[in-house]
Amino acid sequence: MKETPQHNLGLDLVRVTEAAALAAARWMGRGAKEEGDGAAVDAMRISFNSVDIRGRVVIGEGEKDHAPMLYNGEEVGSGHGPEMDLAVDPVEGTRLLAHGRPNAIAVVSMAPRGTMYDPGPAFYMNKLVGPAETSGVLDIRAPVAENLRQAARALGKDVDDLVVFVLDKERHSGLVAEIRQAGARIQLHTDGDVAGALMAVMPGTGIDLMMGTGGTPEGVLAATAIRVMGGEMQGMLDPQSMEEEAALLANGYAMDRVLTCRDLVASDDVFFVATGITGGSFLDGVVFTGKGARTSSMVMRGHTGTIRYIEAHHTFDRLMRISAIDYD
Ligand code: FBP
Repeated sequence: MKETPQHNLGLDLVRVTEAAALAAARWMGRGAKEEGDGAAVDAMRISFNSVDIRGRVVIGEGEKDHAPMLYNGEEVGSGHGPEMDLAVDPVEGTRLLAHGRPNAIAVVSMAPRGTMYDPGPAFYMNKLVGPAETSGVLDIRAPVAENLRQAARALGKDVDDLVVFVLDKERHSGLVAEIRQAGARIQLHTDGDVAGALMAVMPGTGIDLMMGTGGTPEGVLAATAIRVMGGEMQGMLDPQSMEEEAALLANGYAMDRVLTCRDLVASDDVFFVATGITGGSFLDGVVFTGKGARTSSMVMRGHTGTIRYIEAHHTFDRLMRISAIDYD
């Protein structure tokens, strides 16, 4: 029996990422990443009150002692509606924002309660992401050159046609050398591997694959989007310090386990929303117009597979008649 269309909670959530992006964008290029992040957190926290969910932050700004708002375990939403898990990143790419570089985005993903992977003490994850055509042919445990060969074949390209997104970090010097040795090309980005993963699965971004180690929370956020858009993602926890490794072992996290999108988000009934803060390859940044601003967002719903791009025009004096957020 066919069901009647249900409420798309993503369309409510996009107001949350819009508010965060509007607040953060005031800090673009001002060299103050904490302030930019703080402004976005405040705005996001207030906006969540209007969303009819009983939400629990699984991935937030950190433990309660360090994060007064949007901390891991915090209850958000109006307190009515479905019980949901949330991953929030009010500014994904705080340094990108502070330096005014592309691809800083405000992001929220949501899945039914109990279905989102809890990174716990796992800060870092090695990731391999490619478009849907590469499903079933990539293996994060295989040599880099082999994955490049397989991806090229699946995409009907030569290895030297490929472009791989890699975070520009010291730990990737070996990876970068292997990619170059195999003959593929590289885009090095200082930050922002949620954007990198999205670019790897979306057609027309000029990126074919993403490889390398970034944040585990960012891995869960990206996995939610990939569940909707389709694509291949594999991850393996990759601790970057002895303390992190010890905490993983003490808490029963296996470092030799290959995590798929389904392990990271165990439901199709997911939502992913992102609003551009600085401009980027797939979302425009916030543009202030004097009396207001324009934002660009994407809203994805796993249940239907619908992906919307929303351009919103905000008028600050009217917004501030009803909102506790100071947009000016
Ligand atoms: P923040 O927004 O928390 O600064 O994260 C930016 C980021 O580049 C992520 O996209 C990435 O997953 C992670 O940092 C990598 O961490 P590190 O900079 O410690 O290597």
